[in-house]
Amino acid sequence: MNEERLARYLSINDFRHAARRRLPRAVFDFIDGGAEDELTLRDNRHAFERIRLMPRVLNDVSAPQIASDLLGTSVQAPLVVAPMGSCMLAWPQADIALARAAHAHGIIYTLSTMSTTSIERMARAVQGALWFQLYVLKDHDFNLQLIDRAQAHGYGALVVTVDLPAGGKREKDYRNGISIPLRPSWGLLRDGITHPAWAWQLLRGGLPQFENVAGYGGMADNGLPIAARVGQSLDDAFNWNKLARMRERWKGRLLVKGVEHPEDAQRLVAMGVDGIWISNHGGRQLDGAIATADALPLMAQAVPGTPLIIDSGVRRGVDVLKARALGASGVAVGRAALYGAAVAGEAGAYRALQILIDELKLSMKLAGAASLTELGPHWVVR
Ligand SMILES: Cc1cc2nc3c(=O)[nH]c(=O)nc-3n(C[C@H](O)[C@H](O)[C@H](O)COP(=O)(O)O)c2cc1C
Repeated sequence: MNEERLARYLSINDFRHAARRRLPRAVFDFIDGGAEDELTLRDNRHAFERIRLMPRVLNDVSAPQIASDLLGTSVQAPLVVAPMGSCMLAWPQADIALARAAHAHGIIYTLSTMSTTSIERMARAVQGALWFQLYVLKDHDFNLQLIDRAQAHGYGALVVTVDLPAGGKREKDYRNGISIPLRPSWGLLRDGITHPAWAWQLLRGGLPQFENVAGYGGMADNGLPIAARVGQSLDDAFNWNKLARMRERWKGRLLVKGVEHPEDAQRLVAMGVDGIWISNHGGRQLDGAIATADALPLMAQAVPGTPLIIDSGVRRGVDVLKARALGASGVAVGRAALYGAAVAGEAGAYRALQILIDELKLSMKLAGAASLTELGPHWVVR
């Protein structure tokens, strides 16, 4: 898709609508959907929408400053692409497309354990800052191998996800029967016929595989939907002691993702974790979990000075401004970037991130903030 056509996409929602048209329903639902009644999925948005700003005036806002430092990495905007597994269902080599788009904007890309591109292949394909997200598998030797592989290939931070001791109950995925590897079925055949552009690209780009865990024996190919299958392979007995051992093994920065309780944040900081990633997995895990924008002020109060990354529900640049004002250092985006990649690969992801960055700068100007560092809770009414 050429630049002129992409420029017609004005919001993340435009990309979402186009992704819905381009992708078969099972793939769109997998990306877009949430657990059970999708209460948390919806509330993530509502929580950002409920926050109101008290703009300041007569500040020179001619050049809004958004460059930041995120756990020792200099970034051109306080944004991170969140780890996402199974992305190649949406676009060939989608992981690499997302990473390249992130790096073109000078921001960080996080590779998932369940990505469809391996740690090594990603490190060879891109130049910019990479973080690696670990799902703690039942086999701890395999976890250590993953950590060592990420360390050997220059990933700057390890992000341990702790909100998936079991796969969330995403009913759409059960109904649609989405799995990796894709298995032949009438539904898949119908999807291919009704979405020929998607099917052609999928066949040409190679069928998605979980490349990082290719050699992992514990990942039974049992035909379950993706979340359930991943959940079955993860260590639901993972606890504080095991995390402490992981802290010893990983020499770089360590973040823990999927934290929403202030007391957990305090305990994590006390044990030497470098940053807390406030997340409810985009409403894909515990339905009924608190919206992250509601949890953020409590977390900022509990662990002042600790780098906080927040995700779940970010769809506008102004959400980034709100998160910064409430104490986040950085904001991670999952679907917002993936809708872009699902529509037009790297160029689509680039445009989606551009929209967020442009909206952030515009909202800073309109709110009277010349720099992100000026923002604070006094900008916000809740
Ligand atoms: C398609 C998809 C796959 C995901 N896979 C992972 C994953 O492998 N590891 C992980 O920690 N989080 C995963 N997540 C959660 C994201 O990292 C992030 O927490 C969530 O998408 C944030 O919400 P947002 O999509 O509203 O921005 C996934 C999310 C989506 C949409």
